[in-house]
Amino acid sequence: MTAFKDNLLAGKTAFVAGGTSGINLGIAKRFAALGAKVAVAGRNAEKAQNAAAQIAPDALGLSADVRNYEAIRGALQQAVDAHGNLDIVVSGAAGNFLAPALGMSANAFKTVVDIDLLGTFNVFRACHDLLNTPGASLIAITAGQAVNAVPLQIHACAAKAGVNQVVRVLAMEWGPDVRVNGISPGPIAGTEGMARLAPGSEGRSTGTHERIALRRWGEIEEVAEAAVWLCSDSAAYVTGTIIDVDGGSQLGDATRRNMARGLA
Ligand code: HXC
Ligand code: NAP
Repeated sequence: MTAFKDNLLAGKTAFVAGGTSGINLGIAKRFAALGAKVAVAGRNAEKAQNAAAQIAPDALGLSADVRNYEAIRGALQQAVDAHGNLDIVVSGAAGNFLAPALGMSANAFKTVVDIDLLGTFNVFRACHDLLNTPGASLIAITAGQAVNAVPLQIHACAAKAGVNQVVRVLAMEWGPDVRVNGISPGPIAGTEGMARLAPGSEGRSTGTHERIALRRWGEIEEVAEAAVWLCSDSAAYVTGTIIDVDGGSQLGDATRRNMARGLA
């Protein structure tokens, strides 16, 4: 799909938390295709094993809840025992549903914050002494909700804003040996996230295209390419940043702006 060399990640070990479906599974598959040894983790053991089977014959599918520090530490250790110390860790587990603040219990809010934000802290905190350094690369999967206020998404907005700050603080604390970055996908076709946020769209709603500069939803593989670049030597001087892979979704209503400029 790209100019990345087929062996770009040969000799590297990658752990993808939440890598058992969707965008994160796509990232795990791309890492493996470029030569990395890969482990993925989610809550559901059968789903994790099925995902591993799709990734590579030696990929590990592990069961761990990112809200449980000891469980995620155990999964990371299993990955290291099987494949050697870690070079790449992705924190992508997330939970989401549409609900107004007044339709959300304290536990509902806490549940999403715990999965997305505490989970990211847990994954990164637990992996640190298992990393091959210097040169290790950590990637958090965040979202535009981190910086944009989105109704019915108070839990995800708060959680992902926190994830962005975890990225920035750890980049400061763990440089120069470890680089820490985030990827903020836009609407990605064929994912659980968009099935929840735009129900009935079958993953490719055209009703939302006018707000996107590139006038389409993204593909899982397009997010995976950014992850590959971030953990490659080409990004050796990149840390503490959030890369938007969103077709310009956060720039505003592209159609309206172009009409105002006489371009539409
Ligand atoms: C209001 C809800 C709710 C809803 C659950 N709750 N769904 N409240 N509206 N639609 C409440 C429950 O009533 C409960 O509160 C609390 O949330 C916890 O629910 P549980 O079912 O016990 O939680 P759990 O089993 O841990 O499941 C977590 C989950 C679930 C987030 C609720 O949907 C899940 O497992 N999601 C994982 C998959 C997923 O969401 N993928 C998309 C992520 S990507 P009470 O008070 O009753 O105890 C994504 C893309 C967009 O989101 C990016 C934006 C950031
Ligand atoms: P998805 O398919 O639902 O993937 C979520 C993954 O996280 C699954 O592997 C799931 O497996 C795991 N998971 C959920 N809760 C967990 C927990 N408590 N502990 C461990 N693993 C857990 O979601 P997606 O739509 O591809 O989204 C992936 C990432 O991209 C998320 O971080 C999301 O916020 C971000 N994102 C997505 C979009 C989009 O368009 N979809 C847009 C912006 C950002 P189990 O259920 O087995 O645990």
